[in-house]
Amino acid sequence: MRGCSHHFSILVAFLFVAVGGEAVSGFRICAYNVQKFNSQKAANYKVLHTLTRIISRCDITLLQEVTDTDGSAIKALLSSLNRYSGREAQRYEGYHYRSESSSSLGKSPSDMQKYVFIYRTETVNVVDRYQYQNQQQFVRAPLAVHFHSNKTAVKNFILVGLHTDPSNAVKELDRLYDVFKEVLKKWKNKNVMFLGDFHAGCAYMTRHDKKNIRLFTNTSFSWLIGDKMDTTFTDETSCAYDRIVVYGKSFLKAIMPFSARAFNYAQEFKLTRATVLAVSDHLPVEVRLKSSTLLLQATPLLLLVSAVIRSFLSSP
Ligand SMILES: *[C@@H]1O[C@H](CO)[C@@H](O)[C@H](O)[C@H]1NC(C)=O
Ligand SMILES: *[C@@H]1O[C@H](CO)[C@@H](O)[C@H](O)[C@H]1NC(C)=O
Repeated sequence: MRGCSHHFSILVAFLFVAVGGEAVSGFRICAYNVQKFNSQKAANYKVLHTLTRIISRCDITLLQEVTDTDGSAIKALLSSLNRYSGREAQRYEGYHYRSESSSSLGKSPSDMQKYVFIYRTETVNVVDRYQYQNQQQFVRAPLAVHFHSNKTAVKNFILVGLHTDPSNAVKELDRLYDVFKEVLKKWKNKNVMFLGDFHAGCAYMTRHDKKNIRLFTNTSFSWLIGDKMDTTFTDETSCAYDRIVVYGKSFLKAIMPFSARAFNYAQEFKLTRATVLAVSDHLPVEVRLKSSTLLLQATPLLLLVSAVIRSFLSSP
């Protein structure tokens, strides 16, 4: 009996390794505040390389605080991503990347920022986009992009990016509910995800503020990055500034449970503090959508494994 369960655990481990690649990793959506990303920063090889490694893990990445007025920094980043995935074709399957950017948004000429979605052309495409019009309500009004993917269980979904103004975070977060209504009216699609640096923690948004934010009081919205998560990199702060929120049960069901997290790439890539801080004092946040082909890809393996288990059990 002991022998049997031992074989069995080896087989289960084998199954995880075998299926662990593409199918189980799902479709990754990331958001990253890249702290004043401009052409000067993009000219720093180390910064560009680190960003390339981070973004090449994701099917879609929302970058915030892109201060690149002429678009040259994003152009450099895209060409680095496309070169990188070509060179590492084995590992990254030769993905190609494109971007969808807002215009420069802000109230002060010295602090104009863009939202930039970077996405893999092989796994997802942009159906439409919508720049929220009510500019008085936000310092940087949200950019909504309607995506379509063949790889995900939910084929059509909408990502709404927001980088709140720290001094107005609570009001701006509450107004996301109005943005939700607007997006719903426009596309008749309830698969809506909000993401970005919301300043939704520490001094900018306290527990008491939640009663004034409709995305909290209305329980149809699920906050996937919880209050206890630390999305900052510095030792001095432990704050859940960067968040991912989804609307509705059906979209929630299409998300891999417990996949939302801050990605501590310092640990994962074994980078020094200085290398990380040269990119940003935030960490990227991410979540994974379930793949439409998960079962399809896993089925032949399950059949194989069960055949092997049977042969083990019947062997003397
Ligand atoms: C998704 O599938 C449709 C129909 O087969 C195809 O036309 C489209 O190019 C595919 N999109 C992506 C992003 O693969
Ligand atoms: C939450 O928001 C949805 C979408 O607008 C709405 O249909 C629902 O009635 C709201 N729930 C509550 C309790 O207000």
